[in-house]
Amino acid sequence: MKQMKHIVFLTGAGISAESGISTFRDSNGLWENYDVMEVASIDGWRRNPDTVQKFYNERRLQLDSVQPNMAHKLIAGLESDFKITVVTQNVDNLHERAGSSCVIHLHGELTKACNESKSEIIDIGTKPIELGTKASDGSMLRPFIVWFGEEVPLLEKAAIAVTAADILVIAGTSMQVYPAAGLINYVKRKTPIFLIDPNDVITGMSGIEHIKEKASRGMSILTEKLKK
Ligand code: APR
Repeated sequence: MKQMKHIVFLTGAGISAESGISTFRDSNGLWENYDVMEVASIDGWRRNPDTVQKFYNERRLQLDSVQPNMAHKLIAGLESDFKITVVTQNVDNLHERAGSSCVIHLHGELTKACNESKSEIIDIGTKPIELGTKASDGSMLRPFIVWFGEEVPLLEKAAIAVTAADILVIAGTSMQVYPAAGLINYVKRKTPIFLIDPNDVITGMSGIEHIKEKASRGMSILTEKLKK
């Protein structure tokens, strides 16, 4: 039996933009009208847990009203012909809902909550975390999100996937946030790399084929190329 080629996707906020979820850096450091550093950093959480809980409760609830778009669906559809690993910086669940079976969430997941040390992780779906709710160890129950200033525990797993890739596709990420952006350096030499983004993205790597389109159109173009 012929072994399937392994395609690794590195996705970011842009892949979910056409589903109606806003990106981070297209709106002057504001994320849904909040200062990114106030709601996405461990210091912001320590300063103001109520605002941060409220913010993620809103983001979680938003999942009920958004749907995977054509880009998520085309990525999932490739599983019939390829081994697919999706390494995403997104905390939404749209890749899974489109049918992707191997998704590595580098920055955590909205549908989960955890204790302060992250040793206990629970599924909460789209339900809010009520202010002041405690985890079983007595610490404050918090969103299972990797904030600025925190470790990225799945980084090594993602790096192993990127090294194993026969093809790498970077879609909808500005590649500005480390360590996620550094994953591109784990790719084997001569691995074809595609970039899907309507804007220019600095990757520090040459020889990348840039499909300069929004995610769904870009994924249609890429899917056609991969079929050949
Ligand atoms: N289709 C594809 N790409 C798009 C679209 C679209 N419809 N719209 C915008 N983009 C692109 C932008 O051009 C940009 O390059 O998506 C990218 C979004 O970049 P960012 O907003 O910086 O998002 P991302 O790279 O995912 O941010 C990384 O930063 O705040 C943290 O933890 C947060 O995971 C997040 C991380």
